[in-house]
Parts: sequence; C-alpha cells; structure tokens
Amino acid sequence: MTGRVYPDPPPFGAPKFAKTEKNVFAARTMSASLPRIRILATGGTIAGAQTGDRARGYRAGAFSVEALIAAVPQLAALAALEVEPVAAIGSQDMDDATWLRLAARTQAAADDSAITGVVITHGTDTMEETAFFLNLVVRTAKPIVLVGAMRPATAMSADGPMNLYNAVAVAADPAAVGRGALVVANDEIHFAREITKTNTTQVGTFRSGHRGLAGLVNNGRLHLYGPPVRRHTTASEFTLAGISALPRVDIIYAHAGMDRKLIDAAVQAGARGLVLAGVGDGNAGSLALRAAAEAAAAGIAVVRSSRTGGGVVERNIETDDDTSGFIAADELNPQKSRVLLMLGLTCTADPRVLQEYFFSY
Ligand code: SIN
Repeated sequence: MTGRVYPDPPPFGAPKFAKTEKNVFAARTMSASLPRIRILATGGTIAGAQTGDRARGYRAGAFSVEALIAAVPQLAALAALEVEPVAAIGSQDMDDATWLRLAARTQAAADDSAITGVVITHGTDTMEETAFFLNLVVRTAKPIVLVGAMRPATAMSADGPMNLYNAVAVAADPAAVGRGALVVANDEIHFAREITKTNTTQVGTFRSGHRGLAGLVNNGRLHLYGPPVRRHTTASEFTLAGISALPRVDIIYAHAGMDRKLIDAAVQAGARGLVLAGVGDGNAGSLALRAAAEAAAAGIAVVRSSRTGGGVVERNIETDDDTSGFIAADELNPQKSRVLLMLGLTCTADPRVLQEYFFSY
C-alpha cells in the first residue's frame, strides 16, 4: 500500500450557514481559511426520502443539499461549502442535456480561483457514466468528486452522510489533484474510468475491476494508491466548446438466439454509433454480426464491448474487426464505451481514429 495517511481532521464544530446569492448558491459557509468546495447537486438516493417508515421505495431528490449538509455538522470543520443546484433527478433520468449543463457548471467551478475542488451529488445508477463523461471533458487538475448513496437520507443507517463527508475531504485534499474525476462511496475512492456499479441495493455496490481502487478514505483521512493510467481532464482532447447536442449512440445487448432486428432498429432510429454488449469476448451470433458489419459499412461506428463485466476485448480474436470495420472496446464496459464513442464521434467517424481513442482513454 503506497497511500498517505493524514492526521485526524480538527475537532468538529457547529455548522455556520449563511444564505447568500439566493439564485445561484443556496447555502454558503463563511469560513475564509478553509478550502472552498463547490457542491453541484443533481439528486439521487442521497437526497431521497423513503415513501414510508419501513419502505424500500423512495422519492429521489426530495431533500436539498443544504439539508444533507445540515445533517453532517462535521463538514464545517473540513471546508467552506458553496451549493449550486443543477438538477433534482434520479440518475436513471440523466440525459445528454443535463450532462452538457453539468459539465459547463463543473468547468465554471473549477475555473474559479477561489474553489479548491468540486463535489457532485448524483444517483448511483448512472454515476459511472457521468463520472467518465466529466473525466473526459472538464479541463482541470482540481479534484472533481462524485458522491451518492445507496440508502435514502431517511433510511436506518443511511450511507449518505459519511459518503458526503468523505467526498468533501477528498475534494479538499491537495493529494487528490491531477487524478481526474473520482467517485467516493463506502469509504472507497474510485477512478471514473474504472468504477462500475455491481449490485442492486448493497452499500458496497461499486467495484473498480482489474486496475483497482484510487484509494480509501477513512473518516476523512485519505490513503491514495497509484495515479490513473489513461488520459483524462487536462490531457483529454475532447471539448464541448460549440457543442449543443451529442451524437446518438445505442447499446445493443447480445444474447443466445439474437437476430438482427435491434441493430436494424437502432440504425433506423438514426444512431451514429452502436455499442455491442457482446457475449464473452465482445461477440454475437452471425445474424447480428452481419447487421453490425452492414452498419459499419454504412458509416456507423460499431464498438464491440462485453456483457461479462471483466476482461479486455481485443481486436481480431474471434471476430475479424479489420474486415468488418469494427472497433474493439479494450477495457471499457458497454456504458463507458458509449460515453467515449459519443465524444469520439464529435471529432471523427473514422473507425481507425476511434479505435485509438479506445486504446488511449
Ligand atoms: C439513482 O441513481 O438516482 C437512484 C439510485 C441511487 O441513487 O442509488
């Protein structure tokens, strides 16, 4: 373990909230000497309320971030907090327009010289996609930390308060600079590229596969491991300047008995890219592969990823990618392949260049 251990945070003090600039920032702490963290709120279970005392169901985004902060008075000793609402949605409703808005607000926060780091509250369902998107389009070395919770704020043993505390601690720490977008949950720090959600309900849902964790965070104390391996943020070539909409990319889930109809339907719907959540090594039956090759020949980018949840999809192993014009997803799962392909298609439709993106990011 190569991590750094920080001393215990200073003793907890009472929160000091003063409402200022009502339209933009709903709450702001007043300490001048502490690192200043801007929290961008998007909703999710972390801000959710159960529908009944013992209910499993909940309303996403029912609480404001100010209410979440007020539930963690220990935050006042960690950082001066600013809050900016961006959305109040369950992350299953996260869409391209909200991504573009969130990326712009994250960039604005990062460009503010008074801000040390950015925390984004977000539902866990699509958090890995949003984190990877921001990892590729926001130009900053400052920490960008996404945080959510598996249990609603009103649940027994809610995980949101500690996750939020740890997320602010990571965003405020100079050691987190230059590591791209991160996700903090369940005392773990994950790189945006590596993290995936693996369990429907458990608090330990997030995993970071082959390349492992970015670090641990225990009650605000960071233990950081190796740096991220691929290009991100300041080294990314993707920009949203002048972009008001992203290209349509559909994910097609492969299965036994698959025919070509869903692929043809995606092409008909105007997809400029397809990601195959392939069986095994990014594979599919011959009918589906023929339809995918026809799509590629028509100029639609086709990426072969895998539905297995692990491993690398390499070129030309079981499938002749060179002949079919396919792109191998390398290490990215289907949902992250979709994010990279959308951004890649803002630059080029050339499958050879798109393939290089999958080897670089
Ligand atoms: C969501 O992603 O908004 C719902 C699930 C969660 O936040 O854990």
